[in-house]
Amino acid sequence: MENYEKLEKVGEGTYGKVYKARDKKTGRLVALKKTRLDMEEEGVPSTALREVSLLQMLSQSIYVVRLLCVEHVEKKGKPMLYLVFEYMDTDLKKYIDVHARAQGQGKPPLAPKHVQNFMYQLCKGVAHLHSHGVMHRDLKPQNLLVDKEKGLLKIADLGLGRAFTVPLKSYTHEIVTLWYRAPEVLLGATHYSTPVDIWSVGCIFAELTRKQPLFPGDSELQELLHIFRLLGTPNEETWPGVSKLRDWHEYPQWQTADLSKSVPHLDAKGVDLLSKMLQLDPCKRISAKAALQHPYFDDLDKSQF
Ligand SMILES: Nc1ncnc2c1ncn2[C@@H]1O[C@H](COP(=O)(O)OP(=O)(O)O)[C@@H](O)[C@H]1O
Ligand SMILES: [Mg+2]
Repeated sequence: MENYEKLEKVGEGTYGKVYKARDKKTGRLVALKKTRLDMEEEGVPSTALREVSLLQMLSQSIYVVRLLCVEHVEKKGKPMLYLVFEYMDTDLKKYIDVHARAQGQGKPPLAPKHVQNFMYQLCKGVAHLHSHGVMHRDLKPQNLLVDKEKGLLKIADLGLGRAFTVPLKSYTHEIVTLWYRAPEVLLGATHYSTPVDIWSVGCIFAELTRKQPLFPGDSELQELLHIFRLLGTPNEETWPGVSKLRDWHEYPQWQTADLSKSVPHLDAKGVDLLSKMLQLDPCKRISAKAALQHPYFDDLDKSQF
């Protein structure tokens, strides 16, 4: 780690701290992420190494934050892994906050063209992960990084969730957000798949056009109630198998509300795409690849991608 000059702390998340640092040899800015793994005496578990090589492979895409190298160091006799990433200006949560504050009352945080551009890059990145059989499982604005100058949006914080179970609370005791969690996960489905990421993408899409998150629940039940209030309470007809899920209960019966009212700054094509991403039944949810072909993106200049 002598090769890096630690600058300031840029983030604190589920597993540990993230530092901005400078590579002393090249002068390049990097992000150092210490992974707090409960490692065995023998060192880094093979599952972790598999994760890291998968990460390295996936980060070849420009829509995924680039993993530059992995440093394996001993700290007081304990093995530790440092992941070294390209440094990005900011994450999407901070980016939305800054823009929302700069805009006046009643205005969306980001211009419609800007939302369309970010959504296209996000769908590209998610399609890339899914084409390699990988789901992210924790897509949220804090895990999307932004290069302000180039207007790039990249997926970060992937992979480790599978080798290391995602804790309910982070090590700083910050509660893990439920706002982007798919209904099948909230209902205790054990066999969920890539549609969980599309749900998160839909929630992020809505948030980009609003000043607030779409489903800000502070418990799993509250989260489900937020979702059902807007999209209607599911039943065996609208979502076959839903009542067999582990945590299914009886819920208040809501009719499907008008989604466009929740995203007043989004045009009709955008609302159509959003509604396809926010299908309660994961089987009916649009795929990332199909989303890229949706008419919402028709008037986007794709030559830049
Ligand atoms: N490559 C990077 N460049 C700049 N900031 C980063 C980078 N990686 C992470 N961060 C910041 O650190 C935060 C936590 O990093 P993340 O990879 O999401 O770890 P965690 O698993 O702890 O959530 C992010 O939300 C972001 O603000
Ligand atoms: Mg994170």
